[in-house]
Amino acid sequence: MKVYFKLISILLLLNSIACEAKLSTKFYDGRCRDAAAIIRKSIEKAVSREPRMAASLIRLHFHDCFVQGCDASILLDETSTIQTEKMAIPNANSVRGYDVIEAVKREIEHACPGIVSCADILTLAARDASVAVGGPWGNVRLGRRDSTTANRSQAETDLPSPFVDLNALILAFAIKGLNARDMVALSGSHTIGQAQCFLFRDRIYSNGSDVDTGFATTRRQRCPRNGGDGNLAALDVATPDLLDNKYFKNLVERKGLLQSDQVLFSGSTGGIVSEYTKKPRVFAADFGKAMKKMGEIQILLGKNGIIRRRCSAIN
Ligand code: HEM
Ligand SMILES: *[C@@H]1O[C@H](CO)[C@@H](O)[C@H](O)[C@H]1NC(C)=O
Ligand SMILES: *[C@@H]1O[C@H](CO)[C@@H](O)[C@H](O)[C@H]1NC(C)=O
Repeated sequence: MKVYFKLISILLLLNSIACEAKLSTKFYDGRCRDAAAIIRKSIEKAVSREPRMAASLIRLHFHDCFVQGCDASILLDETSTIQTEKMAIPNANSVRGYDVIEAVKREIEHACPGIVSCADILTLAARDASVAVGGPWGNVRLGRRDSTTANRSQAETDLPSPFVDLNALILAFAIKGLNARDMVALSGSHTIGQAQCFLFRDRIYSNGSDVDTGFATTRRQRCPRNGGDGNLAALDVATPDLLDNKYFKNLVERKGLLQSDQVLFSGSTGGIVSEYTKKPRVFAADFGKAMKKMGEIQILLGKNGIIRRRCSAIN
């Protein structure tokens, strides 16, 4: 009898360790009940102050997850041992929202010190940002832990460039366990937010057959042949602050801003773009699913990683 109980208690113990080591939508329920509400309120406030912040936070999450997984490595500042990803080519002078996340983290630390990871905050912030601009995305699973390292060179190799062709885009996502359909759905994030002139200049001056002439002419007004590199344009001309399926309609009309946007309406992914123009609900469902999948790339669980006290530094 005694042995039997001992066995059961060992099994229960093992089970609780196993539970620790996996993601769950209820992860903070007994640990920091208010975490989700604190994050949601603060993200809603940030987005109402500046609508573009919704886009910036979604991109921040993407650029975190594609470099050694969703471990908040992108938030770490430079030290003698850490090469900050913030200075990597795709991120420098481009990725935004660090201050919003650090401010949310301060609020969370006040409520429940040492419990909620920066990686989970990034995931929830991206989810809440999406919802704040009319996007889909339901419950997310939580329990990610934070890295003690960052990898600038991986940020430069693994984050896709806007100048590459369709096969390279498909490959960049395949390496992270995401298929072409996930890639197209996730690119639907470009239905909000902005891009700098130097990243779409070649396209609008190309006179290419895949660019609408009227669209190119309009875009040239704020993106001259020389200079104005940092001038901004909406990624979605139609509804720049709404997470909807207009982005895909733009692509069919040859009004994609980036080369990497327009190439999606070609080859093996062209049909997916067409489908999303006609079926907004299918896009919404796929977007939500793909976001969750992206948010679970190579996460640190259980005893791996740490809970950072500040997101920009290791404890
Ligand atoms: C398919 C490959 C992708 C490429 C080549 C790409 C490239 C870019 C580029 C060049 C910009 C403009 C940056 C700047 O002007 O400083 C941008 C903006 C943005 N990207 Fe992507 N992206 C891709 C996929 C994604 C994915 C998967 C997401 C999210 C899940 C995403 C979300 C965003 C958002 C929301 C913005 C606007 C950010 C803001 O306004 O602050 N992108 N992207
Ligand atoms: C950074 O990532 C690359 C692969 O992209 C890997 O070869 C390298 O070892 C990593 N560096 C560190 C310090 O983890
Ligand atoms: C595009 O067309 C304009 C005028 O029609 C011309 O000046 C320019 O050189 C062309 N650009 C390219 C890349 O062919």
